[in-house]
Amino acid sequence: MKRMFLLLVFLLAVLPVQAEGGKIIWGTESKPHSRPYMAFINFYDSNLNIMRCGGFLVKEDIVMTAAHCHGSNINVTLGAHNIREQKNTQFIPVLKAKPHQGYNPVTLVNDIMLLKLKHKAQLNSVVKTIALPNSKDWVRPGQVCTVAGWGTLENCTLPNTLQEVELEVQKGQTCYGMSKSYDDSIQLCVGNPNEKKATAWGDSGGPFVCGGVAQGIVSYHLCPWKPTRIFTRISSFIPWIQKTMKLL
Ligand SMILES: *[C@@H]1O[C@H](CO)[C@@H](O)[C@H](O)[C@H]1NC(C)=O
Ligand SMILES: *[C@@H]1O[C@H](CO)[C@@H](O)[C@H](O)[C@H]1NC(C)=O
Repeated sequence: MKRMFLLLVFLLAVLPVQAEGGKIIWGTESKPHSRPYMAFINFYDSNLNIMRCGGFLVKEDIVMTAAHCHGSNINVTLGAHNIREQKNTQFIPVLKAKPHQGYNPVTLVNDIMLLKLKHKAQLNSVVKTIALPNSKDWVRPGQVCTVAGWGTLENCTLPNTLQEVELEVQKGQTCYGMSKSYDDSIQLCVGNPNEKKATAWGDSGGPFVCGGVAQGIVSYHLCPWKPTRIFTRISSFIPWIQKTMKLL
């Protein structure tokens, strides 16, 4: 924990924006296995620290997550609620990782990545894929969708069980006012500034789910004590997803 806290402080000091490793603050514990598409991801960063992210199963052998969750020795756990318990879980190492070629680690635009698993997952009642949007779908301000993750809690501890929170989509102007690199055509501005609900460190890569469809990927926040977050807008990446899935 101390190491993670120091890392957070370090990132705050050097980055203009703050990538989220994967946590939920002011949320609630999910009903076990109610989100069977959730993937728990572990990888080593360049300093060989073990990092955690969320992701989601989009095909039997493909998990979608954020590009900033790239590292070495990436492993995926499917079918988990409490990540300390192995009952019903499928642990599958990642064979190939394909971050978007336009991903920029400074501005965090194009924060999307596909992971090809070493073998297909066995689909069952606790492991299922989630639908992706149509390229014409357009998530609008005022829509309320849900995000889940194993990221940091409000008391700065990491949970073992999956947590979730409902967040409201904001007008693009809210994020344009906070970030020079925000782009409403490829990103979502999420989180009502008047509500104490947000994703946090460790929730990165998790899905923002609207009506059963994964419409966003947890990407970053600009100001840690404000709830507004920036997510990747998946519907803008459908051609890239289709092309990359064929290559994997
Ligand atoms: C992923 O799993 C392999 C064993 O299959 C292990 O050697 C490696 O350390 C794991 N990676 C992480 C980040 O824990
Ligand atoms: C942090 O909060 C969680 C959820 O409310 C709780 O289960 C846990 O015991 C708390 N940990 C500490 C150290 O306060």
